[in-house]
Amino acid sequence: MVANVAAAEWSGERGEAWRDSMGPLEAMLAPVNMPLIEALDLDAPYRIADIGCGGGETSIALARNAYPGSAVEGFDISPALIDAAKAKEAYGQVPIHFNVADAEQPLGDTALFDRLTSRFGIMFFPNQETAFSNLANWLKPGGRFAFAVWGPAPDNPWMSSIRDVLKDHIVIPTPEPGAPGPFRYADADEFGSLLQSSGFSDVKSQSWKEQLSLGGGLAADAAADFALSAFSIGQLLNQSDQLTAQAARLDLASLFSEHVTDGDVRMDAHVHIVTGTRAAI
Ligand SMILES: C[S@@+](CC[C@H](N)C(=O)[O-])C[C@H]1O[C@@H](n2cnc3c(N)ncnc32)[C@H](O)[C@@H]1O
Repeated sequence: MVANVAAAEWSGERGEAWRDSMGPLEAMLAPVNMPLIEALDLDAPYRIADIGCGGGETSIALARNAYPGSAVEGFDISPALIDAAKAKEAYGQVPIHFNVADAEQPLGDTALFDRLTSRFGIMFFPNQETAFSNLANWLKPGGRFAFAVWGPAPDNPWMSSIRDVLKDHIVIPTPEPGAPGPFRYADADEFGSLLQSSGFSDVKSQSWKEQLSLGGGLAADAAADFALSAFSIGQLLNQSDQLTAQAARLDLASLFSEHVTDGDVRMDAHVHIVTGTRAAI
């Protein structure tokens, strides 16, 4: 068994860093909500689980768009993010519960949910086979899932360009292939095979290709500040001297300034919306 290092990071500092930039992160990722929710076929009152729900923005969108009588449960390993989700104004106004939980661990009762979803919350499991087999057991036989994961890095310059700029200034470790991280499931076919072997069936993937607004609508300078504080790659600059950090930030703002539309930095994004079922018994 691999030590749950990534999960430990998210339950601590990484979760707190996501919380500290939560408003602009959630505004940036909001366009992914409706394609994901539509892929779930919410055609009856369902129990719906949102895995790695973070600050709960997708869970709230689910509760607002679900069939009347539905209930949503958000699960996240970060206590800081679950507290932030519970502090949202919408919490208490829609049928929703938020829980601190590690998706690699059994829930206790199994087969609880009619629908299972996640917006970018399932790419960080150190023991991915354990985690997805476990999640398949959270779903009732015949139940449906829809997961959003990032497509290949070159199709997501809003993220990969940050690495490209920083590597001219500091040494950036090359991620191990298949290691937990945002591009782990960039190959949709490989991800589909993992899901099939974990107990899911009828797995299909569709591409969502649109532009995302960095930080939900920021000019180039502010977008550079946002990217360097919100994404873990930006933390690497904290270990460099001030002149290096300033030069990298200026280069990033300059690159972002080439992608401004109507005052906002907007860049291409590619998301796989991966759907399927748990086979009916
Ligand atoms: C990239 S963030 C996405 C958050 C949220 N879904 C969103 O789109 O705003 C990844 C989330 O997955 C959560 N996470 C990572 N490993 C987890 C695990 N083993 N169990 C539950 N949540 C986990 C993190 O704490 C974090 O909130």
